[in-house]
Amino acid sequence: MFQAALFDLDGVITDTAEYHYIAWKRLANELGITIDRTFNEKLKGVSREDSLSLILEHGGQADRYTPAEFQAFAASKNDYYVDSIQDFSAKEIYPGILTLLKELKARDVKIALASASKNGPFLLEQMGLTDYFDAIADPAAVSNGKPAPDLFLLAAEMVGVPIEQCVGIEDAKAGIAAIKAAGALPIGVGQPEDLGSDIAIVPDTAHLTFEYLENVWHA
Ligand code: BG6
Ligand code: MG
Repeated sequence: MFQAALFDLDGVITDTAEYHYIAWKRLANELGITIDRTFNEKLKGVSREDSLSLILEHGGQADRYTPAEFQAFAASKNDYYVDSIQDFSAKEIYPGILTLLKELKARDVKIALASASKNGPFLLEQMGLTDYFDAIADPAAVSNGKPAPDLFLLAAEMVGVPIEQCVGIEDAKAGIAAIKAAGALPIGVGQPEDLGSDIAIVPDTAHLTFEYLENVWHA
């Protein structure tokens, strides 16, 4: 049996992937850059700064701004995003997630958050989920973001479980790559076209039962 479950947040525990997209789209528009959902797949799981770099590159504006302007754009996006999540509550938890967290707890499986978002702790608090988590890996504490393995390795270390005994749950290509690189078992939420056809994937979180995780682990 696996001994820890390492969760991504945005797009796995709740629908915030959509809110990140809306905030980035608003900032991109202000800069005269058009982004769509296909492009957005590249931003999922990626840090705020790296996402902004990808957007500027996409718009042919990679070297146009000073570091101060760059930081100001990143701060604007975060303001838009933070505004949009103020009213988050337990109602926003994706189907099946609360049951899964309870099932994991009942079986003494450690639970950790491995989200690239600095807004992760705020969201867990808003949704009343903080107490389910044995650890929250701080994305600011690692030098390399997803697709590098660092955040998942930190999360496993924080709950005292060898990474080989962990499952990682992700909705983003960068996140799946990070889980693979770390050496945990990846489980995707989404579509094989986005996440790859070589891993276990559920179309939505309602399918993410403890029994499913167990079956994937033993397969
Ligand atoms: C990831 C999201 O979880 O966190 C990305 O998938 C986001 O879209 C990243 O850019 C960083 O989030 P934040 O809240 O720190 O800007
Ligand atoms: Mg995600």
